[in-house]
Amino acid sequence: MTVSLTRRYRFCASHRLHSVLLNDVENQRLYGKCNNPYGHGHDYTLSVTASGPLDPMAGILFPISHLDRLVDEHILARFAHRNFNVDVAEFETVVPTTENIALVIVDLLRKNWADYIYPASAQLTRVQMEETDRNSFEVVLPVAARRADAHLEELREVEGRVPVNA
Ligand code: NI
Repeated sequence: MTVSLTRRYRFCASHRLHSVLLNDVENQRLYGKCNNPYGHGHDYTLSVTASGPLDPMAGILFPISHLDRLVDEHILARFAHRNFNVDVAEFETVVPTTENIALVIVDLLRKNWADYIYPASAQLTRVQMEETDRNSFEVVLPVAARRADAHLEELREVEGRVPVNA
């Protein structure tokens, strides 16, 4: 049985929507007030969802502190109280729309996931960025297929015994 866990993180940051591929008039037309030269701030809410089988002994997916460390060290330490356009290398050439910020967060979480989250059966399945109380953007990731016998193997590891009907 797969269970999902969602944890929310709040942080402030600023951005300006401006594409170097467009001229000033086109940028203004596309992004409106979000193209104002000196940018603007948001109180973002980031929601991270992980899904996987419950540890049969502990009854949890994994300790939430694992996820907190990953998000603190790879997302909040780099993004909170920053200007995305100026301070975050990933947005040197990518417009820091909140859609793109969500995609960069997915990439950073996936790259570092295995160093923080264990058991490894817990997967990143969704990232949502709320930009205001009216706008939110989300990326939903497919769940990688698990081998049919994976759950039985976990039971053997955790309980040190083979289920009766295995
Ligand atoms: Ni904005």
